[in-house]
Amino acid sequence: MKLAIAADHGAFELKDSIKKHLDEKGIEYQDFGCMSKESVDYPKYAYLAASAVAKGEYDFGIICCTTGLGVSMAANKVKGVRAAVCTNEMLAEMTRRHNNANVICMGQNVVGPELANQLVDIFIATEFEGGRHQRRVDLLTDIENGKELS
Ligand code: RB5
Repeated sequence: MKLAIAADHGAFELKDSIKKHLDEKGIEYQDFGCMSKESVDYPKYAYLAASAVAKGEYDFGIICCTTGLGVSMAANKVKGVRAAVCTNEMLAEMTRRHNNANVICMGQNVVGPELANQLVDIFIATEFEGGRHQRRVDLLTDIENGKELS
């Protein structure tokens, strides 16, 4: 298991605490920045981690900002990325089971460090259910590819 992690300045501390958690669990990751609390533009960091996941270089991405919203919007613009903002355990589980999400997004002002660690643990441990959900995920890909659904 190899993870891509990134955050803007608004979630620099959250990224740090998630990294410590991953270190403790012995989970490999690459930090795509940012590397300080200096103000940066979240789309760039979301893009760096999300595109590495889309290329298949990492199993999952963890991308954070103040709210989780901006980075999720940026990540979801990358082809092949299904990013979900998660604020509780149910969302972290269901977005894996049903949406086959490959990026979890969280907000430093929304989830505390303990909850964030729990959400990461659930997200990376939960399998996609496939079946009828595969058909729906395939439709997401169709939309991404410009196909008109009727
Ligand atoms: C940065 O101030 C803030 O806009 C960013 O962290 C994020 O929450 C955007 O959605």
